[in-house]
Amino acid sequence: MAKQILTLNQISLKGLERLPRDCYEVASEFAHPHAILLRSHKLKIEDIPASVLAIGRAGAGTNNIPVAECSKRGIPVFNSPGANANAVKELVAAGLLLGSRGIIDGIQYVDTLADMTDKAEMNKVLEAQKKQFKGSELVGKTLGVVGLGAIGSLVAEMALTLGMDVVGYDPALSVEAAWRLSSQVRKADNLSALFARCDYITLHLPVLDATRGLVNAELLSAVRKGTCLLNFARQEIVDEEALVAALDGDQLRQYIADFPSPALIGRDDVILMPHIGASTEEAEDNCAIMAAEQIRDFLENGNISNS
Ligand code: MLT
Repeated sequence: MAKQILTLNQISLKGLERLPRDCYEVASEFAHPHAILLRSHKLKIEDIPASVLAIGRAGAGTNNIPVAECSKRGIPVFNSPGANANAVKELVAAGLLLGSRGIIDGIQYVDTLADMTDKAEMNKVLEAQKKQFKGSELVGKTLGVVGLGAIGSLVAEMALTLGMDVVGYDPALSVEAAWRLSSQVRKADNLSALFARCDYITLHLPVLDATRGLVNAELLSAVRKGTCLLNFARQEIVDEEALVAALDGDQLRQYIADFPSPALIGRDDVILMPHIGASTEEAEDNCAIMAAEQIRDFLENGNISNS
């Protein structure tokens, strides 16, 4: 009998192709599925049918899944670490450029010229106005990377290619990442030391009890004036009240994040994106393939990886 896989989000076809039709049925409704495949659907323990043997998340974070309760019920939860790391890294590159150059203000200003018909006149106006969009270069600036896992270490390598100095901090740094990054990425002894010496700081941590609200008033008071903080990881890592105070007090120059938040929308010193770090065709395929293969390996062979 074919095994039934319940999909709670639209999962990329390339991932579903890893579940052969003669052995698997895939649908968004099943009374007694063998496994669940999902992306960002917020799953509650009471919504998991008793028949479920495994859950696969096509994404890195598992904070939308009640992992501890699943463990108590003996249900492994698989994620796809690294499968969307390149997509996030590329968006961080865009974040660094948005934080260093007057790109957004400049584009918005150009839109205000829509009614001008004379090109020469437009160039004259632009010539007079463009000094207000002057930025600074990333070359020679220091980037602090907090968390050097799959995404953080790619971000560190990308920043080196832009000519930035990179300082990293990760108390759980893998031997492999330490080896790969060792020659060029300096390690900070602790977070306060990293916060105190960087022009840009980027966060690449999961949400855990230990990381929720980690970037608090004390850490933010350590930053050099003019620092730009980037958060393409999870909103909960930054204490929002402390963040607003640091921006209001001009301690922090700018905050660029991949999550909208009512308290921050509309501020001149904040750029917010709609959680699109992993929203590329390639990342969605890679994550779905990894999650589907793990579910299959578990259901067919009992193997557990990335759980
Ligand atoms: C992830 O956890 O993989 C990313 O934040 C993207 C997502 O939530 O889909």
